This record gives sequence, structure tokens and C-alpha cells, in this order.
Amino acid sequence: MSAQLDNLPEFRPMRAADLDRVMQIEPNLYTHPWTRGNFDDSLTAGYSCWVVECGGNLAGYGVLMIGVREAHLLNLSVAAAWQRRGFGRMLLGHFVNVARGSDAAQMFLEVRPSNLAARRLYVEFGFREITVRRGYYPSGRGREDAILMGIGL
Ligand SMILES: CC(C)(COP(=O)(O)OP(=O)(O)OC[C@H]1O[C@@H](n2cnc3c(N)ncnc32)[C@H](O)[C@@H]1OP(=O)(O)O)[C@@H](O)C(=O)NCCC(=O)NCCS
Repeated sequence: MSAQLDNLPEFRPMRAADLDRVMQIEPNLYTHPWTRGNFDDSLTAGYSCWVVECGGNLAGYGVLMIGVREAHLLNLSVAAAWQRRGFGRMLLGHFVNVARGSDAAQMFLEVRPSNLAARRLYVEFGFREITVRRGYYPSGRGREDAILMGIGL
């Protein structure tokens, strides 16, 4: 019983002390990963930065920027070894709840058109495509578009 409880996913705010582990995960997930400085800046700026741990392992993390009447999900990441176990869904649900608890009326995010896994997850939560931002992301072939998605809170 206690072993099962020990392995329940635990959400908590990200700390600077997490960044060594975050930086072991991030470069394995993205062709153009966030730098340590990007995470440092997000913590310093007071963005809503969270990690989810499971059995002492860092399974995933994300960063939500809450502005005037709108929230913007800047990062949503699940370590490769922990993918397809529901952590992405749990993390996104957590961030939507955080946004709903703020005075934001809408929540936005950008996603690469090629990222079908993330797009499926976002559509499941009711995110809808708003527009395409041309050449938003760096990519191996120059630039790649981003789909701006959003939901009303
Ligand atoms: C996108 C990401 C966060 C999903 O996390 P995850 O923990 O693997 O996802 P979950 O197990 O919660 O899956 C939730 C749903 O997402 C979709 N999904 C997730 N991985 C998928 C895959 N490899 N292929 C297709 N659909 C996928 C499915 O609809 C899935 O539901 P299902 O398992 O019932 O079919 C994770 O793959 C990741 O971190 N990718 C690299 C970083 C990234 O692209 N982040 C998003 C940037 S916009």
C-alpha cells in the first residue's frame, strides 16, 4: 500500500535546484531545446513553473506565463522514459486548472504542425487552432510554422 502511495505523481512548483535534472531531459525532447537560462529567467520572472515527480523521478515539467486576462503555456515536457503514461495529460490538466484559478479568460500555446502527439493532446482538452504563425520556430531546414491554439477558460 505505502509503496503504491509513494509512486503517486506529485506536482510541485519548480525550483532552481531542479534545473540540473530538467536540463538532462530537455535536450532529448526538442531539436531546439530551452536553455538553462530560459528556465532561470522563467523562475525569476515568477512564471508558473511546475514539475511532476513520480517515485523520486522527474517525469515532466512545464511553464505557464500568466498575463493580463490571458495565460500562455510556454513549455510542456514529459521525459522520454515517462511518455505515454498519462503524464502529459495530467500536466496539461494541471496548467489549465492553474490558469482557471487566475484571472485569465483564455489560454494559448504554440505547437509545431509536425508535433502530432502534442496536437492530439491539446485537441482533447478543447484547444482550437486560431492561426498559423509563419516561420515561428527555428528548424533544421530554416524555420517552421507554429499553430497558435487556444481555449476559453
Ligand atoms: C507531447 C507530450 C507532452 C505528451 O506527453 P505524454 O505523457 O507522452 O502524453 P500522455 O500519455 O498523457 O498522452 C495523452 C494523449 O496525447 C496523445 N499522444 C501522446 N503521445 C502520443 C504519440 N506518441 N502519438 C500520438 N498521440 C500521442 C494521445 O492522444 C494520448 O492519449 P492516449 O494515450 O489515450 O492515446 C510528450 O510527448 C512530450 O513531452 N513530447 C516532447 C516535448 C513536446 O513536444 N512538448 C509539447 C510542445 S508544444
